[in-house]
Amino acid sequence: MSDASDALISLQQVDKRFANGVQALQSVSLAVQPGEFVSLLGPSGCGKSTVLRLVAGLDRASAGKVLAPALRADAASDTAFVFQEPTLMPWASVFDNAWLPLRLAGVSRRNAAARVMPLLQRMGLEAFANAFPGELSGGMKMRASIARALVTQPRLLLMDEPFAALDEITRQRLNADLLDAWQARPMAVLFVTHSVLEAVALSQRVLVMGARPGRIVAEFQVRRPARHDAGFRDSDDYVAQCRAVSRSLEAAHAATA
Ligand SMILES: Nc1ncnc2c1ncn2[C@@H]1O[C@H](COP(=O)(O)OP(=O)(O)OP(=O)(O)O)[C@@H](O)[C@H]1O
Ligand SMILES: [Mg+2]
Repeated sequence: MSDASDALISLQQVDKRFANGVQALQSVSLAVQPGEFVSLLGPSGCGKSTVLRLVAGLDRASAGKVLAPALRADAASDTAFVFQEPTLMPWASVFDNAWLPLRLAGVSRRNAAARVMPLLQRMGLEAFANAFPGELSGGMKMRASIARALVTQPRLLLMDEPFAALDEITRQRLNADLLDAWQARPMAVLFVTHSVLEAVALSQRVLVMGARPGRIVAEFQVRRPARHDAGFRDSDDYVAQCRAVSRSLEAAHAATA
């Protein structure tokens, strides 16, 4: 386990029991360092989304501690959340959707442009700034959601299966664009996925959870090039690491079947 003392966020022996008696998490401890990219993998129902909700402050632990000492308690802008569904406002343009978090912080449309446009450009959407969500493909909507999430320059980005609904090639492009964005301005990322390939391709560390009750059963430090390198996904080392994570995930599934 990584050191919790200088972590951006940490969970310490967290239990979560819902009102209906479901014990979603049992003694979950994890820490994410500033700028670190961590993925959470595990069988459906093992509590991955519950972990993200606790970290985001959308729900409370039943026992244990959820600590985020360095995040501004007053400012939602330090933490951004991207869900599987892009959740864009259908009546607003791509630009206005991406502007929204700044607008809530009191930044005028004109002043926001210097922040919004470079992000739309990074996400390949500069030609679609005036388009409406209904005119975009699923991949483009997700790009717009990511641009909106990054516009406040959050120190923590929480992503819950963001690319699950996309075709494989679009997903890989978005993986690469996300990594580029992360390298351009490092932030801590806690990324939930069901894809071992995606987790190893993106992360510095992969945590595998088991279910009933949800807990962390394995942790992998990913050996990867310091700079994002498209060749990593073709390397033998990548394949070997995916195999090791897969085995652990299979064991977690078998234990909960
Ligand atoms: N609000 C709730 N009330 C009661 N039980 C809940 C609630 N939210 C989640 N659960 C239960 O807690 C457990 C963990 O759910 P969670 O959504 O965190 O799993 P998950 O790992 O994200 O699953 P998936 O991979 O399918 O998204 C499940 O058994 C789920 O049914
Ligand atoms: Mg979930």
